Amino acid sequence: MSQKPLVIANFKLHGTASSLEKWCRNFDAPADVIAVVCPSYPYLGLLEGQKNVLSGAQNVASYEEGAYTGEVSAAMLQDLHVQYGLVGHSERRALFNETDEWIVKKAEALMRHHIVPVLCVGETQEERKASQTFQVIERQLSLFLQQPTEVLLKTWVVAYEPVWAIGTGLAATPQLADEVHAFIRKVLAEKNKDMAQSVQILYGGSVKPDNAAALAEMPHIDGALVGGASLDPQSFSKICRAFSAS
Ligand code: PGA
Repeated sequence: MSQKPLVIANFKLHGTASSLEKWCRNFDAPADVIAVVCPSYPYLGLLEGQKNVLSGAQNVASYEEGAYTGEVSAAMLQDLHVQYGLVGHSERRALFNETDEWIVKKAEALMRHHIVPVLCVGETQEERKASQTFQVIERQLSLFLQQPTEVLLKTWVVAYEPVWAIGTGLAATPQLADEVHAFIRKVLAEKNKDMAQSVQILYGGSVKPDNAAALAEMPHIDGALVGGASLDPQSFSKICRAFSAS
């Protein structure tokens, strides 16, 4: 893959304005990696003008505007020069009942506002045990892939995040992750070969400084989506460096 590796920090519901400012001062990004940080909505504006990191949102409304109390639209994110947006994170699917249909609408909203959607997919422990991993991932991708080719050829990203690996310390082995990434690439190629080449596929789920290099070496892993370990700027810098060498 000719693009720079993409490494995204997902802060979830953590941090303050001052901790984010301190984080940015202590984060040391290698030049050949695209580093993105996704803080909570109120802090996105603080990332404007940062030199070493781009900004990403953890979520977005599927609606453009209207009576939707508590929602934040893609247009509002665009106003803050947000460049990436997570959609379909497993915590949103499980805790906030987000469906595949809803998630696709969110991705479309981001694309209309020139924000790169990061579509998160991944199986639960039960689905893996029942050998349903590929089936689940194909289903999670399929609605999005029904969009017109000119939309699919825009920039978007897939993050493979096995639910059993998120926040558990139990990362997928590099081989297991790469097998699923290769499958995702195959599903994309069946739709459009150019798209399959250009879409970056990130791995997420207990990525740490000590397992990042082995994941980065795998042929189908183009970057990482990092939760817990991204809160420490030194750890996140190390993870970015592991992908920089890949
Ligand atoms: P984790 O989270 O790195 O803490 O496992 C990853 C994620 O939820 O994106």
